[in-house]
Amino acid sequence: MSEAWRGADLGQVAVEEQSLEMQSCATKLSTIREVLLRRHMKVAFFGRTSNGKSTVINAMLRDRVLPSGIGHTTNCFLRVEGTDGDEAYLTTETSNERRNVTTVNQLAHALHMDPTLDSGSLVKVFWPKSRCALLRDDLVLMDSPGTDVTLELDSWIDKFCLDADVFVLVGNAESTLMNTEKLFFHKVSERISKPNIFILHNRWDASVSEPEYIEEVRKQHLDRCVSFLAEELKVVGLDEAPGRIFFVSAKEVLSSRMQRAQGMPETGGALAEGFQERLREFQTFERTFEEFISQSAVKTKFEQHTVRAWQITEAIKAVMDAINIASADRKIFCLEEREDQRDRLDFVRGQINRLTDNVKERIRTLTDDVTAKVAAALSDQIRSLPVLVDEFRADFNPTQETLELYKTKLLQHVEERMVGCLSHRCSVSVLIRDAQRHMIDSVRPLLSLSTQEQLSAPSTSFELTYDLGLAALCADFRENIEFQFSLGWTALVTRFIGATNAKRALSGSDRRLQVFP
Ligand code: GTP
Ligand code: MG
Repeated sequence: MSEAWRGADLGQVAVEEQSLEMQSCATKLSTIREVLLRRHMKVAFFGRTSNGKSTVINAMLRDRVLPSGIGHTTNCFLRVEGTDGDEAYLTTETSNERRNVTTVNQLAHALHMDPTLDSGSLVKVFWPKSRCALLRDDLVLMDSPGTDVTLELDSWIDKFCLDADVFVLVGNAESTLMNTEKLFFHKVSERISKPNIFILHNRWDASVSEPEYIEEVRKQHLDRCVSFLAEELKVVGLDEAPGRIFFVSAKEVLSSRMQRAQGMPETGGALAEGFQERLREFQTFERTFEEFISQSAVKTKFEQHTVRAWQITEAIKAVMDAINIASADRKIFCLEEREDQRDRLDFVRGQINRLTDNVKERIRTLTDDVTAKVAAALSDQIRSLPVLVDEFRADFNPTQETLELYKTKLLQHVEERMVGCLSHRCSVSVLIRDAQRHMIDSVRPLLSLSTQEQLSAPSTSFELTYDLGLAALCADFRENIEFQFSLGWTALVTRFIGATNAKRALSGSDRRLQVFP
């Protein structure tokens, strides 16, 4: 293990892959958090253009809230939610200004006249809760432009649908599910695990024109949709799937409900055959849908997100465990490395101490050798001092100034000659170089390779210099160059006539001098 770590960057334990996974987990968790924090339930309606999405929403709201039909193609995302006030109004993404709308036509007009709105923008429609029971439970309905009018499905899904609790696909009973519709839900289920999906086959009233095929057509649609939900998307089981598919006529339901609201009989208009049955199916859809968004659905929603969040935290735990194990390994390696370094430090310290003693000893011997050599040479020089002095030639003049100069030159001469002889006899550069080389060679094995390379060659410029300081030594020398007769009168007499005669002669007692030949 240690070898594997050697080259690794000791600063970082987690690998890039792990930090990316952690980031993605964090993003998923924050989406789940947002959904869980939200009080309301959100239902998103999708389908190809003119399948009747806006009409279905209106039917559910029991009023013509959203513009629909020819000339009223939904051109942006319309989010309908309840307001406690009595006035309906709308706000857009670009301005929070409340624009009052009392009629569908005004709303339609406002939407079509606004140049800032495009298929990717969002308009919030606030509808009085007093006018619609469905909106009382904080339900939010999201109408969308047809899935076939955009190439930006992906960004739509991210922007408006990731947090939807229920998706309603509004299909057209006259044609089968189109690929754009299927693709949309594939993308949704890639992003959201097991989205709740309902499929409405709208415009079922149109099928009465061919009553003989009605059951067959219904079965075909049903089979395809069951297979789409249960086998392709795998969002529900095969047994549950039929309960999510309905054959309805939103237009009929809306008009009958509006007529009823106005006090007219439900079937006041010329309703097509089979209306009651289609109304019942719409009501079943609404019941199932309401069940979904009721408490039990909230529970399912929470349960689903909680399970997902739990899975994500498990993934985080796995990554953290891996990082933990890796850092424990790294720690063991570092501890081992530290032990090695400590051992090596102790070893080097011991070696250095021994080496220091050795070098000190060598220096002592070297100093002793040099001292002895210099001392021997110096005493030889002292012995030959008279010769050196004799060698000196200079004009001698007994005046005070020339005498000083004479003395200085004499000292210089003697010093130069002595230093010359000493340097000649006591050359130590070889000894010093050997000693330096020995020191460097002994230290080298204790150093790291890179430091070894930096070790420079021993200096060769070492030379002994001598400062004999003769001038200082002779500073208090006082020459005496007066001529002085060394023998006095008495001494001369004694020398010539002997001690006894001299005594006598000098005392004057015997004037006769005995002179010896
Ligand atoms: P876009 O907003 O353009 O995507 O269309 P949409 O899906 O919202 O359709 P919308 O509700 O505007 O309806 C389109 C047309 O189909 C309108 O003229 C509706 O009256 C009509 N329509 C809606 N539902 C039904 C229905 O169940 N039966 C029949 N026969 N016509 C319907
Ligand atoms: Mg519409």
